[in-house]
Amino acid sequence: MTFPVVGMVGGGQLARMTHEAGIPLGIKFKLLSDTPQDSAAQVVSEVVIGDYRDLDTLRSFARGCDVITFDHEHVPTEHLKALEADGIPVRPGPEALVHAQDKGVMRARLDALGVPCPRHRIVSDPEDVVAFADEGDGFPVILKTVRGGYDGKGVWVVRSSKEAAEPFRAGVPVLAEEKVPFTRELAANVVRSPHGQAVAYPVVESIQVDGVCDTVIAPAPDLDADLAARAQEMALRIAAELGVVGHLAVELFEVPGPDGEPRVLVNELAMRPHNSGHWTQDGAITSQFANHVRAVLDLPLGDPRPRAPWTVMANVLGGDYPDMYSAYLHCLARDPQLKIHMYGKDVKPGRKVGHVNTYGDDLADVRERAAHAAGYLRGTITE
Ligand SMILES: Nc1ncnc2c1ncn2[C@@H]1O[C@H](COP(=O)(O)OP(=O)(O)OP(=O)(O)O)[C@@H](O)[C@H]1O
Ligand SMILES: [Mg+2]
Repeated sequence: MTFPVVGMVGGGQLARMTHEAGIPLGIKFKLLSDTPQDSAAQVVSEVVIGDYRDLDTLRSFARGCDVITFDHEHVPTEHLKALEADGIPVRPGPEALVHAQDKGVMRARLDALGVPCPRHRIVSDPEDVVAFADEGDGFPVILKTVRGGYDGKGVWVVRSSKEAAEPFRAGVPVLAEEKVPFTRELAANVVRSPHGQAVAYPVVESIQVDGVCDTVIAPAPDLDADLAARAQEMALRIAAELGVVGHLAVELFEVPGPDGEPRVLVNELAMRPHNSGHWTQDGAITSQFANHVRAVLDLPLGDPRPRAPWTVMANVLGGDYPDMYSAYLHCLARDPQLKIHMYGKDVKPGRKVGHVNTYGDDLADVRERAAHAAGYLRGTITE
């Protein structure tokens, strides 16, 4: 067998779907997962159960892998440097990945590159948060732990020094940001390979509910064409400057500029397949997962263009109703274009357990079909 082995650290749904995308290419996967029940561990044949925070575990896992890549950003940066020193290609490498691991490092680097960001600085205690608020438009202020957050965990909207105490309890440095009065959230997704080839997906709109991604519309409706092109160029430039290999999601806020012209600020970076790119599985010629696999193996990248005028992705969150399979009959019959992607997770209220993609020519219709399916699977829509 001459096919390479991709070592994937983390057993979540991103690993599951990346593995799926490698199957047609005959790529072999080896997975480092916390438990055998994790989403990807259920489907990958070679699974090592272990703790990604332990260097010996990582080292023994990496043996026999041609490249290491990730389902999440939480592997300690120094462990990744140790794997590289052992001669194992780590993609994205630690020098790039640290910008997705640490929001403080990310902000400092983007400032140095002249990339527009929300007003921000590292704060030391609640009084310092008050000082930060006073330097700008006052409260509310956004506080974020620089490491370890996901799905809005690790992000607080605070309105007073009293409310500002909580984020400091984790003992992790805290980043303060102005609360951006954005008109909407966008994402510019790109994929870059080690020898520098890169592709850019259309800029999408991402709609969050309670801090969690709910719906993604591709392309972002009514987005100014110049602004879209500039956002794509900015994402490609960030990928090149940081030396990213694989998928890079640049989460953006669209804001009205001083002259009324819309512009974008960077919220954060993710260096792995991203929820804002799930639509590409069914809506683009080459999915983010397929291009991530190609990139980490330094294969030529695939065409990122959309297949349909509109594709909408809706996340399926757990509701009160554990039996989602019984909803398939109705959902699949109602919309023959619907694609369901389930992660093999137990249904718990509010937990992301899957997503749906659907597409077509009429945006309102496509949105309705996606929202209906996600709501019906969750149990909040009953007919
Ligand atoms: N400076 C800001 N101003 C206004 N809203 C913000 C700001 N920063 C974050 N938010 C809101 O909080 C959400 C989560 O923030 P962020 O993306 O930094 O957190 P995360 O938990 O690391 O990310 P993810 O949800 O992507 O895993 C954003 O998508 C946005 O809706
Ligand atoms: Mg985010």
